[in-house]
Amino acid sequence: MSDNVQEKLESLLRVQRVIPPTAEAKAASYIQDYDAAYRQSIADPEAFWDQAAKELEWFSPWQRVLEWDYPWAKWFVGATCNITSNCLDRHVKTWRRNKVAVIWVGEQGEERVFTYAELFRQVNRCANGLKSLGLRQGDLVTIYLPKIPEQIVAMLACARLGIIHSVVYSGFSAPALATRIQDAEARVVITADVGYDRGKPSNLKEVVDQAIATCGTVEKVIVVRREQPGIPLSSPKEIDWQTWLDDKPATCEAVPLDAEAPLYFLYTSGTTGKPKGVVHVHGGYMVGTYLTTKYVFNLRDEDVYFCVADPGWVTGHSYIVYGPLLNGATILTAEGKPDYPNPGRWWRLIERYGVSIFYTTPTAIRLLMKYGEEWPKKYDLSTLRTLGSVGEPINPEAWEWFHRVTGGTCPIMDTWWQTETGMILVTPLPSMPLKPGSASRPFLGIEADVVDREGKSLPPNAGGFAVIKKPWPAMMRTIYKDPDRYRAYWNIIPNCYTAGDVCRKDEDGYFWFMGRADDVIKVAGNRIGTAEVESALVSHQAVAEAAVIGKPHKTAGEAIKAFVILKHGQQGNSELIQALKDQVKKELGKIAVPQEIDLVTSLPKTRSGKIMRRVLKAKELGQDPGDISTLEE
Ligand code: PRX
Repeated sequence: MSDNVQEKLESLLRVQRVIPPTAEAKAASYIQDYDAAYRQSIADPEAFWDQAAKELEWFSPWQRVLEWDYPWAKWFVGATCNITSNCLDRHVKTWRRNKVAVIWVGEQGEERVFTYAELFRQVNRCANGLKSLGLRQGDLVTIYLPKIPEQIVAMLACARLGIIHSVVYSGFSAPALATRIQDAEARVVITADVGYDRGKPSNLKEVVDQAIATCGTVEKVIVVRREQPGIPLSSPKEIDWQTWLDDKPATCEAVPLDAEAPLYFLYTSGTTGKPKGVVHVHGGYMVGTYLTTKYVFNLRDEDVYFCVADPGWVTGHSYIVYGPLLNGATILTAEGKPDYPNPGRWWRLIERYGVSIFYTTPTAIRLLMKYGEEWPKKYDLSTLRTLGSVGEPINPEAWEWFHRVTGGTCPIMDTWWQTETGMILVTPLPSMPLKPGSASRPFLGIEADVVDREGKSLPPNAGGFAVIKKPWPAMMRTIYKDPDRYRAYWNIIPNCYTAGDVCRKDEDGYFWFMGRADDVIKVAGNRIGTAEVESALVSHQAVAEAAVIGKPHKTAGEAIKAFVILKHGQQGNSELIQALKDQVKKELGKIAVPQEIDLVTSLPKTRSGKIMRRVLKAKELGQDPGDISTLEE
């Protein structure tokens, strides 16, 4: 463990406060006695997941709950299902048909409301649209949309037919989108004319045009046209979403799929330049997201559930779309930033729609903290009951602020998980005592631990690696076209899934996550691989070499700092620095742009030539770099 980890550990150890659950939260909980429920779930995890799966509808049952051929898992073996039957059909057969499924609020203040029956019809029309293009089970559609309801409709329509969706966050640039389309070999891309960012339209269709110039597999581009007059389209390749679906019938049977049939790919950053296509499947993912949404937020029919994520990231997949719809929830989703047009934006939405569950991120909380308590104070937030946080460790100050401004009684579920895990794995439940800054304890059925490099459990409060010791239903099944990269997760530490996070477990078994052990940076809760940014920098003609690190940042959690060696004869000046930033923006998108760029003449390397980012980071933060015996100079 490096000194850096130790440092973080000590700073966290100062936090002591324990907040018992309110009698009300406890009484209202599905799981009132976590310890007993956990013990039981772990005694026989397969029986536990078997029971959970039986709360959902399947076309045909499984012969076995789990087939585990280390490190390859199959869940609900032999069963057939379709996640959309449980998100839609299961509800439209009941009184929920006219219950509100999705309330969407646009950045410009527009509002669109979909009941379960209406969402069902729209998804079916879209599925029929996909069929009309000749797409079928196993094909792939890339969805590059802003946060508008069509994003949800398109995802579900694909899933209904067993078409795999790959949602790409609409902030990604053309080259980043192209890499993801190429890797997945998408036949169709669904996009929009524009997305809005703080009132300014960003031209998504142009990005797609640039991207697909290098993607031979794309046959059609479907365009949602938001602006008037509509942008011109060049047929027959480009199709208007509205015209495409106008005449399509509103019924389309869900295709019965093997439980292990792929549902989606989602590309995420790792430690190499190439993003990984994480593969999730219908059956196990459905069970995992269903149960975690239900228990973690104690979700009930009368709730209004507001998750601020974008379906371009995994939180949007699991906890805006699939988990909540599987539970028949009323979901509020809003386009735009938390402080636009003013920092009252989300608080106002909570008041306006009577939100009872609010799932957000530490970055957003820290941003709102900067604007002060007067903003939440302006609004009636008394409908709030359960809060959530995800994406990075939430610092106790932000936790306390969030808790206080929302009334001081709502439990905050600090949920720890990853794109690869598909579902929340370490989290409090509303009936548990909370410790601000800790993600609490493993979810039911999940065996999590903190271990050393050899896989030995560590004593309380010793920093080590967060691992999961048994398979779980929503785990990724592989990395698309790269099974070795999948295997690696299960081979770093013997007999465990290694998440890449450093962590400690306190004397009560509460997990305190301390950040990543690998070279992955978390900017505003989004994973950025150092290698991706470095390769974007090196793609500039003036750059010989680059190394990037994450630096603590007050609101974003981490900010990117780059160290760049220029080629001989290149002049370093502020224009060049700006050009390098522009280059990263062009290659990857705004989110990956380094906040600082230092021009240097050498970089610390191992004898084998690997850049030692850890040394750069320690130097930058004025810390001891730890073991530098492998350093060349
Ligand atoms: O480092 C952990 C951090 O986010 C990583 C996963 O990132 P991603 O796949 O983008 O998924 C984000 C949304 C689930 C983890 O390896 N992380 C996520 N949630 C927490 C967290 N770190 C501490 N506490 C959390 N609650």
